[in-house]
Amino acid sequence: MIALTRSVPSSIANCELTHLQREPIDLERAKQQHRQYEETLASLGYTIVHLPDTPELPDSVFVEDTAVVTDEIAIITRPGAASRRPETVTVADALRQYRPIVHIQEPGTLDGGDVLRIGKRFFVGRSDRTNEQGIEQLRMYLTPFGYSVEEVVLNDCLHLKTAVTALNETMVLLNPAWVRMPGFETIETDPAEAFAANVLLTPRGVMMSAAFPRTIERVRSRGIDVHPVDASELAKAEGGLTCCSLLLA
Ligand code: GLY
Repeated sequence: MIALTRSVPSSIANCELTHLQREPIDLERAKQQHRQYEETLASLGYTIVHLPDTPELPDSVFVEDTAVVTDEIAIITRPGAASRRPETVTVADALRQYRPIVHIQEPGTLDGGDVLRIGKRFFVGRSDRTNEQGIEQLRMYLTPFGYSVEEVVLNDCLHLKTAVTALNETMVLLNPAWVRMPGFETIETDPAEAFAANVLLTPRGVMMSAAFPRTIERVRSRGIDVHPVDASELAKAEGGLTCCSLLLA
């Protein structure tokens, strides 16, 4: 298993922000937390492949938004924030070694953070970053491989995966103020931990932010292995745990 990551850029203080107030980010602490994130992924069986540093691109540590990868194909996105589009160039170059590459084309926009895969179903949030044409192009690329693509309504959050992620193929963790997922067994985030729903699912359990102990307890109480990591600095840049890697089986 491979995890593509990219180091925290020195320009992160200039990142895009949609719902949060800007506050100082401790760059060294962010880098240290990012290394811990990579080490945890490695301990869970992933080989870390580092993308080239792009210090001039403030959001480039959030590699998830630049591609959607399945066993069959890598779809390079066209991020909704124009400042983020140059990030895709080096990601496409790297993914070319592993998968055939296709691209979301203008006028489509799509952020990987809006794309949640559960089994053969892809759920896509129609957000400020992802538009109808982007979703339609994703559907065009994925349906030939037997996947479905279903649009999900979001309220008041940046990406679909800010609001909900999967804990396995039948259970989701979500913030009910931001999204509903009918048909799935559901754990709700603790009311005091609005951002706790973004967890990174791996075959050996889920990574969760240590900032959300009450929600971690809820997940553990269902018998799920949780690997907490400190992700507080990148959270100030509206980045969660899924944002910082592209996982290839
Ligand atoms: N700062 C993360 C994003 O807006 O994409």
